[in-house]
Amino acid sequence: MTATLPANPPGLPGSGPSPSGGPIVSARRLTRHFQGRSRGGGRTTIRAVEEVDFDIEPGTIVALVGESGSGKTTLARMLALLHPPTSGDLVVAGKELPRRQRDKVRYYGNVQMIYQDPFASLNTLKPLRHILGRALRIHGRAKGRRNERELVAELLAKVNLTPPEQFVDAYPTSLSGGQRQRVAIARALAVRPRLLLADEPTSMLDASIRLDILNLLRDLRDSERVAILYITHDIASARYISDRIMVMYGGRIVEQGPTDDVVQNPRHPYTRLLVASAPDPAHHKGSGLNRRVQVVGDAEPVDVSQEVTGCRFAPRCPFVMDRCREQRPPLLQVGDQAAACWLLEDEQ
Ligand SMILES: Nc1ncnc2c1ncn2[C@@H]1O[C@H](COP(=O)(O)OP(=O)(O)O)[C@@H](O)[C@H]1O
Ligand code: SF4
Ligand SMILES: [Mg+2]
Repeated sequence: MTATLPANPPGLPGSGPSPSGGPIVSARRLTRHFQGRSRGGGRTTIRAVEEVDFDIEPGTIVALVGESGSGKTTLARMLALLHPPTSGDLVVAGKELPRRQRDKVRYYGNVQMIYQDPFASLNTLKPLRHILGRALRIHGRAKGRRNERELVAELLAKVNLTPPEQFVDAYPTSLSGGQRQRVAIARALAVRPRLLLADEPTSMLDASIRLDILNLLRDLRDSERVAILYITHDIASARYISDRIMVMYGGRIVEQGPTDDVVQNPRHPYTRLLVASAPDPAHHKGSGLNRRVQVVGDAEPVDVSQEVTGCRFAPRCPFVMDRCREQRPPLLQVGDQAAACWLLEDEQ
C-alpha cells in the first residue's frame, strides 16, 4: 500500500461529479492476486482483481455487475478486510485500511457486510435481541440494558420486522429466509455504518421476496444515508436499485457510469451483452449488434490465470481488431460514462 490519496481525487474516468465531503471509498490500481492452479493444473497467479479504480459517494448505491469469476466478491472482501490487497490504494472514510485490531473494530463501525446466505450468517442458538444487542454492544452504541432493548426494537422496525415485540425474542430458526436477511441487515445497521457491502444479498431468497429486500436497501440509502455496494450478476436488479453501475470482466472494471446511461446506452461490448441478455423484452428488439454479441457471449467464462497483454474480452468480442490483442484499452471517458474499449477512442 502506498501513500494516502487525496480525499477526492480529480479526473477519474466515469466517476461523475462529486458532492462535497469526498467519497466514502476511493480505490486506485487496486489489485488482488491469488496463487492457485490454472485450468491445465500447473501453479499460476490468479488475477482476481487487477488495477481497478473507482469511487463510491456517500448515500449512493453502486452496483458491481459481472458474471461469475469476474472478481466481484474478491473486491468486496478487500473492502471487508478479509483479503489484503496485493497492491494499489484503498481509502475508506478518508483513511487507509487499518492493520491493528483496535483500528479494525473502528473500521467495522463504518463498513458492514450483508452476506448471500441468511441461513449461515446468523447464530441460530440466540434470540434476535441477543444477535442485535451484541452488535450494539461491540461498537458501544447502547447505554444500559433498557436502552439496548429500545435500540433493538428500533432496528427491527427499520427493516420492517414489525411489530418489533413480536420479533425481539424470536430465534432465526422461526423466520423465513427473507426475514433472516432483514435481521442480517438490521445487525449491519446497528453500528450506523456509512457503507454496506451487499454481495448477492437476494440470490438465495425466493424470487417473490427479492424485490422487497431491494426496496428495503433503497429505502435505507435514503433514510440512513448509507452507501451500498450492491454486487450482482443480474443487470436488471442493478438497474432497479442502483445510482451507478460498475461492470467487471476478468478482474477489471470495463465500464462505469450513471445507471440509466449504462443501461440505456452501454458502451462496452460486454455490457451490451449483459443488457441484451437481461430479462427485459425492450432490449431484445431491433439491434442486430446485440444479437451478434449475444452469440459470441455463450463462450466459456474468462480464465484469469492467463496473463494477457491486450483486451481480455477479445476472444468473445465481435468487434475485435488486431490492436485489441496487443494493447490493453484504458477506461476512456464518453460523457458521464467510461469504458475500456478501443472503439470509444473515435468518440472522445
Ligand atoms: N481464496 C481464493 N484462492 C484462489 N483463487 C480465488 C480465491 N477467491 C477467488 N478466487 C478466484 O478469483 C477469481 C474471482 O473470483 P470471485 O471474486 O469470487 O468472483 P465473483 O464474485 O465475481 O464470482 C476466480 O477465478 C476465483 O476462482
Ligand atoms: S477493445 Fe477490442 S476486443 Fe476489447 S471490447 Fe473493445 S473492440 Fe472488443
Ligand atoms: Mg461472488
